[in-house]
Amino acid sequence: MMRAGQLMERQDGAPQAQDAQPDDGAFAQDMAAMLAHRPRGISPKYFYDAEGSRLFDRICELPEYYPTRTELGILQQQAGEIAKLAGPRAEIVEFGAGSLLKVRLLLDAFDRPARYLPIDISGDHLADAAALLRRDYAGLDVQPVAADYTRRLLLPAPLPGAGQRVGFFPGSTLGNFTPDEALHFLQVAAQVLGGGALLLGADLVKNPAVLHAAYNDAQGVTAAFNLNLLARANRELGTDFDLAGFAHYAFYNAPQSRIEMHLVSMRRQSVTLAGRAFDWAEGETLHTENSYKFTIDGLRALAVRAGFRPGPVWTDPERLFSVHWLHAP
Ligand code: AVJ
Repeated sequence: MMRAGQLMERQDGAPQAQDAQPDDGAFAQDMAAMLAHRPRGISPKYFYDAEGSRLFDRICELPEYYPTRTELGILQQQAGEIAKLAGPRAEIVEFGAGSLLKVRLLLDAFDRPARYLPIDISGDHLADAAALLRRDYAGLDVQPVAADYTRRLLLPAPLPGAGQRVGFFPGSTLGNFTPDEALHFLQVAAQVLGGGALLLGADLVKNPAVLHAAYNDAQGVTAAFNLNLLARANRELGTDFDLAGFAHYAFYNAPQSRIEMHLVSMRRQSVTLAGRAFDWAEGETLHTENSYKFTIDGLRALAVRAGFRPGPVWTDPERLFSVHWLHAP
């Protein structure tokens, strides 16, 4: 589903001015392709417009959604150890930065971090979050990069005199990739972070009932997050999805170790995009997200295949979530 195509590192040291519109029409194209093909599916990256980012922030606070608070707990607990591994004047590069809360734990613990480069597809959300961060960390060099890091990875050259480049990929966002895409992303990250390391959060396989609850919360926030994809298409592309005609459906596919999210058409209906009508059968689904769950050994093996040398791995007492230090040779 996700393209992890042309990723590359920019060689010059100019500050990032690229990707004013990281999507450049991709949402329209991918929605049209989704409607034209069967079975229907689209990349989960399109969840994150301003409204979707807001809903995701609410998901992270839900009692059933353990990953965010569990990962924060691990980072809090291990911040000193992680700071030692990162060393002085590290440059932090965060992939898919969202609301920039987790990185505060690193910024508080690291020895004089040189620069912070948050990369996110949602430019407005990112700019607001970066402003808050600058307010709280006076003197920190924050350079937000509004970009789709699944398509290409354009980074300014490392600062002269900076320490290690430390990639930060929390939240188990890696789980949104297929296994092949995850390998490709890690290969590119290993290149971009050469000589440094990647700090990676990965959700773990566990009792499916716990997983099921995390994606089927009682307040229906995850359902609203899923349905916002259709609302966003109505807002931005002029489609006429009837949100009441689709149901949120999330389940754990154990053989594939992944949560799947779908939107299920509750009746026969038709949706119009750019003057063309597309039919939905009763019960037909739009596959909106995969969220792969990992074993610690499986993740470390994947990292090795991508060129990393696995370092320490930390987890919580219930082994719900894992945080990995991966050396990029
Ligand atoms: C941001 C991809 C890690 O898979 O748990 C949360 C997204 N989707 N609830 C996840 C999500 C539904 C989340 N990731």
